[in-house]
Amino acid sequence: MTATHTTEPAAGHARGGDDLLVIRGVSKRFGGLRALSNVNLTVEHGQIHAIIGPNGAGKSTLLNCMIGLIDADEGEVVFDGKPLKGLSPHNIMQRGIARVFQTPQVFPGMSLLDNVAIAALAKMNGQFRIDPFVYLSPTHPAVEEASEILRRLGLLKMAKYDAAHLSRGDKRRLELGICMACKPRLMLLDEPTAGMARHDTNRTIDLLREISATGITMIVIEHDMHVVFSLADVITCLAQGTPIAFGKPEEVRGNPKVREAYLGSSH
Ligand SMILES: Nc1ncnc2c1ncn2[C@@H]1O[C@H](COP(=O)(O)OP(=O)(O)O)[C@@H](O)[C@H]1O
Ligand SMILES: [Mg+2]
Repeated sequence: MTATHTTEPAAGHARGGDDLLVIRGVSKRFGGLRALSNVNLTVEHGQIHAIIGPNGAGKSTLLNCMIGLIDADEGEVVFDGKPLKGLSPHNIMQRGIARVFQTPQVFPGMSLLDNVAIAALAKMNGQFRIDPFVYLSPTHPAVEEASEILRRLGLLKMAKYDAAHLSRGDKRRLELGICMACKPRLMLLDEPTAGMARHDTNRTIDLLREISATGITMIVIEHDMHVVFSLADVITCLAQGTPIAFGKPEEVRGNPKVREAYLGSSH
């Protein structure tokens, strides 16, 4: 196990061969508020790494630092051996990191098939900018790939429907399909089941397991413990911007510091 969450400076932390993402000593202030304090975290290839913690713990801020939406004040994020510092969110995506937002982001007014096909095309063209105005013939390889992805998602029957009219759960499935078409190596998911009914939550859990089984590494921020314990290989718990616990689900579940952090919050 290579993950470290000490509060000590991580300058000497050796990079293990299994590490896909290494966060070293990341701190971020918003005015007088310390949102993140010297966070060290390592994500191994192929794992589902859940980040939990009470509201305001700094989970989304950490994710935003990973994808370049926020510049950390200190520390570095290293993906596949290379620092991400200074790269735009677009370039970070090109490196193979995809993010799924709390509210599903799909192209309304376009069919499910086109939503996935233009993402597949963007990847085939070596660009990650998705052009929603492109026309694709039904025999285009990007369309064939999109059909295959929709089939795996159980959405093929609805391929011609307008994405705007999907339920929240199906929108999330479609969004994950768009992500799959981009073939990321690491997927970052911020509360992927927020606002979903239990049925859709369970379908999303199954889908995330399937995607994980294809070898994609995942970081999942989640406050629904049913989701966390169904998916996570390892869990980091953040509280007040600092990792307070790390380990296998059963270890973190029994950790008194984690219980205390949640009991002291509104959860
Ligand atoms: N852009 C921002 N400006 C000022 N404060 C922020 C900003 N983003 C987050 N914060 C604050 O930083 C802390 C961590 O927020 P966040 O990362 O969203 O927590 P979480 O995702 O764990 O609920 C919170 O106190 C939040 O109010
Ligand atoms: Mg958040």
